[in-house]
Amino acid sequence: MTEPTPLPRTLAAAATLVLTTPDPQEKCALTGRIAAAWQAGDICDVGKAVPPDRPARPATPLLLPPREMPKRSTGPGKGRAGLLHALAHIELNAVDLAWDIIARFTGQDLPRAFYDDWVQVAVEEAEHFELLEATLRRYDSFYGAMPAHDGLWQAAEKTAHDLAARLAVVPMTLEARGLDTTPATVARLRAQGEEVVVAALEVIYADEIKHVAAGVRWMRHVAECRGTDPAGLYAAMLTAHFPGGLKAPFNEAARDQAGFPAAWYTPLVKPVEERT
Ligand SMILES: [Fe+2]
Ligand SMILES: [Fe+2]
Repeated sequence: MTEPTPLPRTLAAAATLVLTTPDPQEKCALTGRIAAAWQAGDICDVGKAVPPDRPARPATPLLLPPREMPKRSTGPGKGRAGLLHALAHIELNAVDLAWDIIARFTGQDLPRAFYDDWVQVAVEEAEHFELLEATLRRYDSFYGAMPAHDGLWQAAEKTAHDLAARLAVVPMTLEARGLDTTPATVARLRAQGEEVVVAALEVIYADEIKHVAAGVRWMRHVAECRGTDPAGLYAAMLTAHFPGGLKAPFNEAARDQAGFPAAWYTPLVKPVEERT
């Protein structure tokens, strides 16, 4: 057995190593090793790094522009592998997003708890990817077997300049949207007797509440540092960087559990005809 490659000495460099590693299994394995080293104090400095504009990706899946993606279905007997593949792709992006927020916003005097939170998010996103990949194999498929959406990193690129923008768009909007839509998907799959997929989605759903909570927590921190109120900062960031606005209905129970006040997001709903 070959020795695992030694880890970089700082958290930012280790995060960048994940981002520049193309193989998904290796990304997940590195995530676990780095998190353990951080938690044990073997990596104790955050340091500084230059993360890539886009994370390294394996040769497959083929990445397609959103409009060229084949439509997927959750109807009985079809599209199950397609759904799992799409979700696995989202989770792999989520692994990179967690490491990107660590590597990109260094030098802002953030407390250790900030890094603890996003290291933990990275660990959970890697678990989600592995869980979905394993579930996908039960359907005689695997990650890379079909095309995937190439638009998922756009939110990261558009918000790479500002931590408040990143928090507003990624955990507080895109991940919170996952909380809004997952219960209906779970109910549909349960009605179809897809208990294994339902069990995987329920694990993910519980973790995603914590990820939204981390987004809200650090938005409050950034707002306090900037001497402004978090609801106003969220609204300003969303208007500037997510012009499509928010879609109702919201899963207020899950958002409440994440500490995300309804008063922050309900005023930002845009009627369909005004969405850009
Ligand atoms: Fe996830
Ligand atoms: Fe997440």
